[in-house]
Amino acid sequence: MVVNTAVRPGPNGQNLIARDDEVMSGSIVPRYPFVMARGEGAKVWDVDGSEYIDFAAGIAVTSTGHCHPKVVAAIIEQAQKFLHIAGTDYYYEVQVRLAERLAEIAPFGGDPARVFLTNSGAEAVEGAIKLARWYTKRPNIIAFLGAFHGRTLGAVSLNGSKVVQKEGFAPFLPGVYHVPYNNPYRCLHGREQAACETHCICGDYIEDVLFKRLVPPDSVAAIIMEPIQGEGGYVVPDARFVQQLREICDKHGILLIVDEVQAGIGRTGKWWAIEHFGVQPDIVTSAKGIASGMPLGAFISRKEIMSWPPGSHGTTFGGNPVSCAAALATLDLIEAGYMVNAAEQGVFIREVLEEMQSHHPSLRYGRIAGLGLMTGAELVLDEVRTPAQDLRNAVENYALQNGLLLLGAGSNTLRFCPPLMIERETVQAGLEIFEKSLTQAEQDAGLL
Ligand SMILES: Cc1ncc(COP(=O)(O)O)c(C=O)c1O
Repeated sequence: MVVNTAVRPGPNGQNLIARDDEVMSGSIVPRYPFVMARGEGAKVWDVDGSEYIDFAAGIAVTSTGHCHPKVVAAIIEQAQKFLHIAGTDYYYEVQVRLAERLAEIAPFGGDPARVFLTNSGAEAVEGAIKLARWYTKRPNIIAFLGAFHGRTLGAVSLNGSKVVQKEGFAPFLPGVYHVPYNNPYRCLHGREQAACETHCICGDYIEDVLFKRLVPPDSVAAIIMEPIQGEGGYVVPDARFVQQLREICDKHGILLIVDEVQAGIGRTGKWWAIEHFGVQPDIVTSAKGIASGMPLGAFISRKEIMSWPPGSHGTTFGGNPVSCAAALATLDLIEAGYMVNAAEQGVFIREVLEEMQSHHPSLRYGRIAGLGLMTGAELVLDEVRTPAQDLRNAVENYALQNGLLLLGAGSNTLRFCPPLMIERETVQAGLEIFEKSLTQAEQDAGLL
């Protein structure tokens, strides 16, 4: 029987969580106690019949909303034809069409591109690293503190956001060097925000410290960066920093890999977040929102780079035909309006959050940043920006109780990454629940 419970999760949800606890890997707890029954657009319902607004989109995945009829129809149509044939052994049109489409929108200034389709973001990152090493014949990779690139061993080696992702899994991929990422709000070189904004020294660090003391530039295959750090806290870098990375790459024959797994496919209001910075990369990785929730990823490179020989890289499931069909329908919908909507709703969310700063202490000195529907609010306790981690966690929990799915990022940031189709009234309703939850958490913390 379905009941709309006041306490979430209700009895059906609690029952399933207990069963899950017995059999699922302990590495994926703690999770939010939401047990999904169904979803539609930017709303979801749990197994006890309670409704929630979805500001999380399954970690920035369900770009066209839950179960968009056109995506579902494309999935059914393809599923009735064939489910699998192995795209690295045989040919099929839906894979070619998707590759053509991705090559067309790739951020290479109109230069030709080639595409490799994967199952996930991490697999796309792995492929991108392999490709960069193969093409340059160089071993080393530069990654960033605060970065997140996935959970496979190569991707974990690149991560620099949380030690728990690395503890117990060494040895990692050799030849990975981590450097500071531009974040004027929390400059890792300890500089004041104004100084950091006038002249970011993260790029200088690569030239003056890394290349002079630790690693010769001509041994570096690639710099891999997220155009907005996602898992690390929704950090938007300064355009000059990104441009400086391009210059460093050009100077030393290094490839620039942009990990667009979270930021790409229209989420920031452009196909690719890197387009906001006036920079063209050499390799792009994608996944998450590309197929509205069907498992699919890709890495896309300039055509001359993806010239590796037959047999050098492959996959059984990557480019699954049903996922490709979902992706084509997704790209159509995003192009036809959701990308513009993402830009507009994102501006609105940031405006509302900025208005809230005057009456919410944890937002007052916090950081509100983002592009499109990849927007974050970093909560702090005071003027000196002490991270409000417990308070952030409390807001997430209250939000869930109040009917809003809201995800954290980094230690003390909340991310606002709903489906790109979300309507203004749902955004407004979600922000009202967010504010109520923030008030409850601030009261508990004695801030109000
Ligand atoms: C920027 C980035 N890269 C890679 C990944 C890994 O993607 P997946 O979980 O599909 O392997 C993620 C996942 O959050 C991500 O945000």
